[in-house]
Amino acid sequence: MAKDVVVVIGAGGIGVAIARRQGFGKTILLADFNEKTLQAAAEDLMGESYTVSTHHVDVSSRESVRSLVDAAAALGAVVQVVNTAGLSPNMAPPERVLAVDVYGSAVVFEEFERVIAPGGAGLIISSMAGHMLPAPIGDVYRTMIAASPANRMAPPEEIAIAASYLLGPDAGFVTGSDLLIDGGVIAAMRAGKLPAPG
Ligand SMILES: NC(=O)c1ccc[n+]([C@@H]2O[C@H](COP(=O)([O-])OP(=O)(O)OC[C@H]3O[C@@H](n4cnc5c(N)ncnc54)[C@H](O)[C@@H]3O)[C@@H](O)[C@H]2O)c1
Repeated sequence: MAKDVVVVIGAGGIGVAIARRQGFGKTILLADFNEKTLQAAAEDLMGESYTVSTHHVDVSSRESVRSLVDAAAALGAVVQVVNTAGLSPNMAPPERVLAVDVYGSAVVFEEFERVIAPGGAGLIISSMAGHMLPAPIGDVYRTMIAASPANRMAPPEEIAIAASYLLGPDAGFVTGSDLLIDGGVIAAMRAGKLPAPG
């Protein structure tokens, strides 16, 4: 019998941490735009005994996402879809950031809707920047972290723990909502502990 399939789009730090946590006993379909990143992450996971398939995808292309959906459905029941693919403003021009982070996220959910298994779950890992006005840069991030209650950054594994809850049966009533995981940066900003950006 085919194993259930967990699709993880974006083979970066957070994507791989989520794949590790969600992939026990399942087929992980790992997808990324960057072929080198994708293959390196897949090799790491396979070296740790996970079952992994890979697929090249550009989430800003509906056609490319459709090809990923077909590949996922061919592997087995698609029980979880996690989109971690994303670009920060320092990595690409605004139009590309919007195409990948905003349009791409919508396309992923729209296209996976036709194959997601009953009771399945979808999750987008995005950025606290969505809670801000104009995005800060460089030293401003250090200032934000210093002013936040947690006073530190989070390793990808800490995000994967929250993802595990959101993807699992305990979060069955949590849907269409947004969990802010930022060590209190936005709260500090709203409380006037640091200057609002812009
Ligand atoms: N790491 C952090 O501190 C942090 C903080 C806040 C938000 N985020 C956001 O969370 C998400 C995941 O973070 P991460 O640290 O794993 O990032 P990462 O940069 O390590 O991984 C993102 C992956 O997305 C891939 N990608 C980029 N464009 C793509 C496209 N068009 N199609 C498919 N794949 C594409 C990249 O090749 C990369 O492997 C990102 O959106 C990031 O902006 C990360």
